Amino acid sequence: MAELSLRNVSKQFGTVEVIRDLSLDIPSGEFAVFLGPSGCGKSTLLRMIAGLEAVGRGEIHLGGTRIDTMAPGDRGVAMVFQHYALYPHMTVRENMAFGLRNIGTPQAEIDRKIADAAEMLEIGELLARKPTQLSGGQRQRVAIGRAIVKQPRAFLFDEPLSNLDAALRSRTRIELARLHQRVSSTMIFVTHDQVEAMTMATRIVVMNQGRIEQVGTPMEIYQRPRTRFVAGFIGAPAMNFLTIAGVTERGGMAVARLPDGSEVATVIPIAAVSSGGLTLGVRAEHVLPGGGAAAKVDVIERLGERTLVYANFADGSSVVYDEPGDVRLSVGDSVALTIDGTAAHLFGPDGFALHG
Ligand SMILES: Nc1ncnc2c1ncn2[C@@H]1O[C@H](COP(=O)(O)OP(=O)(O)OP(=O)(O)O)[C@@H](O)[C@H]1O
Ligand SMILES: [Mg+2]
Repeated sequence: MAELSLRNVSKQFGTVEVIRDLSLDIPSGEFAVFLGPSGCGKSTLLRMIAGLEAVGRGEIHLGGTRIDTMAPGDRGVAMVFQHYALYPHMTVRENMAFGLRNIGTPQAEIDRKIADAAEMLEIGELLARKPTQLSGGQRQRVAIGRAIVKQPRAFLFDEPLSNLDAALRSRTRIELARLHQRVSSTMIFVTHDQVEAMTMATRIVVMNQGRIEQVGTPMEIYQRPRTRFVAGFIGAPAMNFLTIAGVTERGGMAVARLPDGSEVATVIPIAAVSSGGLTLGVRAEHVLPGGGAAAKVDVIERLGERTLVYANFADGSSVVYDEPGDVRLSVGDSVALTIDGTAAHLFGPDGFALHG
């Protein structure tokens, strides 16, 4: 049975529907990431689970209990925000103790829970400090600690890493993944950062305009995006999309013809191709230097271990592809590129991927 279950949940602000008849089941102990562009409704959904926002229509169940009708404090969830929301006049220890004291937890138990959380998060030396005496990363750890001591059934994180610098962000990502391995609680993490989603999630929920586009493991989403939106949102650099001149058939599989006449033999059954107006999708690592179609180098991005090369085909369409870190190339160079058709996707005019 699902641990967290959203059943036909909708939410309207005035006349604007921001969550549209959304249903979702998250099994117990998962690290689920709600991923989507700004404004798609991620925070609204999380706040409805937390009880900070009333549900418009539908039901929310946690651990077999309907919670959307319960007061926030009774739901068994703990939320961590982007802005840490620590009490500025209290020490770290007092911040962590506050919620427990409110529900009448005995002092000895409070002390033990704080000690456990402080050890897990390595904030033992900070317990006597006030929030202003902490770095951003330390504050975020305290905010997480305050959630941990509540021993919630589910942790709810709303972009908790976006105020941290890049190095701290990647360290905290690893800490959260480790935390998830240690505590058995279900975690729901909201972000618009696809790297955070790919690296931490056991299950990604891709959202767009108040709806779910796809639910799957990070690699399912990466390798088999259900829609062009998902394909373009996951992966850096973004997937290449090429307009194709037509589709033929070879051995039962679709062969896409590019505007310059070169062919890309896919492993998508021709039977799945029912319409024209198709788009070919291919990731940078599946556009291979050598052979195929002629292109001109437009921009070179050196990342150290790899180089991203943006090149234009004769018809004006452009692709980004991978070269080794130390490749010798200059803007304006001519290159020949082959698309690995076995890793290519086809999207219909409705935005849905054609699959076998
Ligand atoms: N209290 C409110 N009143 C009216 N509209 C709201 C309110 N809260 C959110 N919205 C609107 O609802 C939509 C979804 O907002 P939400 O905060 O859930 O987006 P989000 O996916 O979390 O975005 P971001 O990544 O920018 O945080 C947005 O269009 C937003 O403007
Ligand atoms: Mg938000």
